[in-house]
Amino acid sequence: MTAFRTLDDADVAHKRVLVRVDLNVPTENGHVTDTTRIERQAPTITEIADKGGKVILLSHFGRPKGRDPQQSLKPVADAVAQVIKRPVAFANDCIGPEAAAAVAAMKPGDILCLENTRFYKEEEKNDPGFVAELARLGDLWVNDAFSSAHRAHASTEGLGHKLPAYAGRSMQAELDALSKALVAPERPVAAVVGGAKISTKLDLLGNLVAKVDSLIIGGAMANTFLAALGKPVGKSLCEHDLAATAREILEKAKAQNCDVVLPVDVVVTKTFAANSPSRAVSVDDVAADEMIVDIGPKAVDQVVSVLARAKTLVWNGPFGAFELEPFDNGTVEVAEAAAELTETGKIISVAGGGDTVAALNAAGVADRFTYVSTAGGAFLEWMEGKALPGVEILRAK
Ligand code: 3PG
Repeated sequence: MTAFRTLDDADVAHKRVLVRVDLNVPTENGHVTDTTRIERQAPTITEIADKGGKVILLSHFGRPKGRDPQQSLKPVADAVAQVIKRPVAFANDCIGPEAAAAVAAMKPGDILCLENTRFYKEEEKNDPGFVAELARLGDLWVNDAFSSAHRAHASTEGLGHKLPAYAGRSMQAELDALSKALVAPERPVAAVVGGAKISTKLDLLGNLVAKVDSLIIGGAMANTFLAALGKPVGKSLCEHDLAATAREILEKAKAQNCDVVLPVDVVVTKTFAANSPSRAVSVDDVAADEMIVDIGPKAVDQVVSVLARAKTLVWNGPFGAFELEPFDNGTVEVAEAAAELTETGKIISVAGGGDTVAALNAAGVADRFTYVSTAGGAFLEWMEGKALPGVEILRAK
């Protein structure tokens, strides 16, 4: 972490500190339904306030086209206040006179949340004029929003060119965990990549075969690989047109000494519905009217034995149709095994990406992993080996 400036390097007392958080959290009828992201960012907010800084929270929320009361950050600011158990003031704008007056009224230790930065189209354009308007409100900029760091927007990247820039504590924790998983991992490294389509994860697979020792492929993505190897996949979700691409990935893996693990058996059903009749079969025996919805028991054993030989696990994407019981079995059993290996100190386990966190939460193992990232797209881009603008700007030059 020495490569990044952190709060340890910042003198925040009496300063106006613009803190880019990611308050893009799930809500229902104006109420926050999952406060995980807020909880992760709370230590940054309270640390700066306790050191006498004036904490000015900046974030986007949703993808509004212009000002939209439905996508106001006000209810989320209230949820932040509840999580940190301190008052959080709110300004109905993120730039201009209303924001400036709210900032001017702050005392050291106060916390203020500004309105959704995406109410201005200039935010996503990283418009220099808009960056300057935001920068006028602060003396320092702290980026604690790893999950938005793949966006080169005004509040996630532009501000770092105008103000002294530091990583917040949650950003620091994400960077530490991801570095342990892929940049300087203990070997052997195993990666689980699941999900529906290889077309959305080609860059990811290409990067991983060069970096990890075992690449375990799950979800409907595995069907595309199985079909490319001439196995019958019946009516399964499968990208038949990507057979050649799948074979190229396997070739590249072989050339890099990366062992690709595909299921040896699978659970199949004739109807894509929870609890529909199913059977476990070898990957050679899927019938024309059946579809693959999970990995089978032999495949679970196979994956667990790969994990047992690994020192590091990085996980993105579920194994089967985990949203339909009992086709979450494969994901749950492998996740349980990974959690146990983590608890006994045998592996470092890092997971992230949209569905992954939901799957690990549903399996009840998320808090038994070494680290579960709250990032979706940013986690994926990091695993793809891409530089994230909101991280790069924090590197100590
Ligand atoms: C996320 O929820 O993944 C981040 O907040 C980024 O949101 P975006 O995809 O709308 O930029």
